[in-house]
Amino acid sequence: MTRSATTAHNSTAGADRLTVRQLGVNLGALIEGIDLRQPLDESACDAIRAAHAEHGLILFREQDITADQLMAFGARFGELTVHPFAPADEARPALIRFENTADNPPFGTDVWHSDETFRTAPPMGTMLYAKEIPALGGDTMFASMAAAYDGLSDRMQAFISGLEAVHDIKPFKAIFGDTPEDRVLLQDYEFRYPPVTHPVVRVHPVTGRKVIFVNPQFTIAIKDMDERESTALLQTLFHQALIPENQFRLNWGPGQLAFWDNRSVQHYAVHDYYPQRRVMERVTIAGDEPVGVAAADPASVRRAKDKIVGKVGYGGHTPKGD
Ligand code: SIN
Repeated sequence: MTRSATTAHNSTAGADRLTVRQLGVNLGALIEGIDLRQPLDESACDAIRAAHAEHGLILFREQDITADQLMAFGARFGELTVHPFAPADEARPALIRFENTADNPPFGTDVWHSDETFRTAPPMGTMLYAKEIPALGGDTMFASMAAAYDGLSDRMQAFISGLEAVHDIKPFKAIFGDTPEDRVLLQDYEFRYPPVTHPVVRVHPVTGRKVIFVNPQFTIAIKDMDERESTALLQTLFHQALIPENQFRLNWGPGQLAFWDNRSVQHYAVHDYYPQRRVMERVTIAGDEPVGVAAADPASVRRAKDKIVGKVGYGGHTPKGD
């Protein structure tokens, strides 16, 4: 985006300048008072880190940054990772560039997912920056999987808390052709990225909240369950991301940057803008191996907050007598 009314200043931004305004009940906050072209001091990074974990999704509006500045900002929060399949910038492998046009339709992001859960240690967070947005459509949806967990019944929470699920690169297999070369290449990827297991309920390492950690893009089965049981349970858990109370819908503005917590949030890119042009740049930041409820330090595990979904209150409605 082009910024005409704002002039750059060369001081270091600290936590005293930035404000965090909550935007959604279960996730989403806006960070203001910060220009991402300028260096950030450690106090600002700490404040951003805290808001990221607490709100799951943080937004920065009207930024005007280059790809290198996006990468430098991401690198303040950890090592940048290289996606094995996404369209990367040739000179900068850690920079994903989604440049979708009539001739290059978006692929594979209109499915609820956390990024790269086919890895043993999926990313802790992802930054997505709007370079060119369509006149209409092209929103991104987010779901708090901590709120999704809180919304389950006590019995379901207890049942799923010791389970593990299998995650796989399956959606990317479609990009390989049916030629001998492609079959060899796919075999090589399957060898490098074999299916991995993660706890179905992960404990967030910062907030201690329990999070549903299965997603319809990469999770293929619940370990040690009959296929029919596994499918039924996964469908039930996938459904939690579809509950509007657990969601936040981001309508992108020019130069907007979203930084989501990949440990607790799923997302879905709405492909309704196609065939309009939409250009986004993305970096992902390395994370840790997910820890389940049994392996987590009991003192760090937070109790589920009061449930909204499933709570029997009837909203003040009472039966009327004649
Ligand atoms: C993604 O899944 O990272 C892409 C999200 C988007 O393009 O809105």
